[in-house]
Amino acid sequence: MAPGTQLTFILVMPGMSVRGDFSYKDLPGTGRRVDIVCRCLAACFGWGPSCWPRSQLRLVVSVAHQKTLTFRGPDIVPECEVEWAELIRDALRGESVGYVSVRDESVAGLVSRLQQRGDHVWVLDESGTPIDRVGALRTSAQNSFMLGDHRGFDSQTEEVIVEYDLPRVRLGPVSYLSSHCIAAVISYFERMVHT
Ligand SMILES: C[S@@+](CC[C@H](N)C(=O)[O-])C[C@H]1O[C@@H](n2cnc3c(N)ncnc32)[C@H](O)[C@@H]1O
Repeated sequence: MAPGTQLTFILVMPGMSVRGDFSYKDLPGTGRRVDIVCRCLAACFGWGPSCWPRSQLRLVVSVAHQKTLTFRGPDIVPECEVEWAELIRDALRGESVGYVSVRDESVAGLVSRLQQRGDHVWVLDESGTPIDRVGALRTSAQNSFMLGDHRGFDSQTEEVIVEYDLPRVRLGPVSYLSSHCIAAVISYFERMVHT
């Protein structure tokens, strides 16, 4: 991979609250599935990569179509869901968290910003083109992959996907957890670099 090439994941969480007012004892319920975000962060920066540099990974979480939280590779990777949840809550409450930046931004605004920066934005979708048949995927390019939550994509996100004509890519014939999709894409890129 070229130095500086970023692999970005966009996790769309339309049902989560922007207030960061959840209890650590009930992340799925009070956090309106913030546990999915914690597992995706662990997959992206913890157990997912084996040789792709963490400094060249990013996870952007779209919260309620109102805010985006952009996580960059931390120096010390949190070890459990609650530690990730603390970072998410602090960031949503406006506290300064070293490697997290917060913007008031919709999914459409995010896609537009990434495209203006030169990113190829792909949609991970069980009904898309199999990833090994997508000739345009290059490890030397800036690639962003959008994922849905436990319900898939909501109608507002589907409208953005259609409006921006984003290509849909499939990882396999069955539906996987979002966190496993992140690990699978990182592994796929690692294999492209090392074979
Ligand atoms: C748990 S799945 C969503 C649930 C599923 N769509 C449903 O409603 O039964 C979470 C997200 O992971 C991604 N995903 C899951 N399986 C996939 C696959 N086989 N290929 C590509 N993306 C996948 C999609 O972005 C999906 O929205």
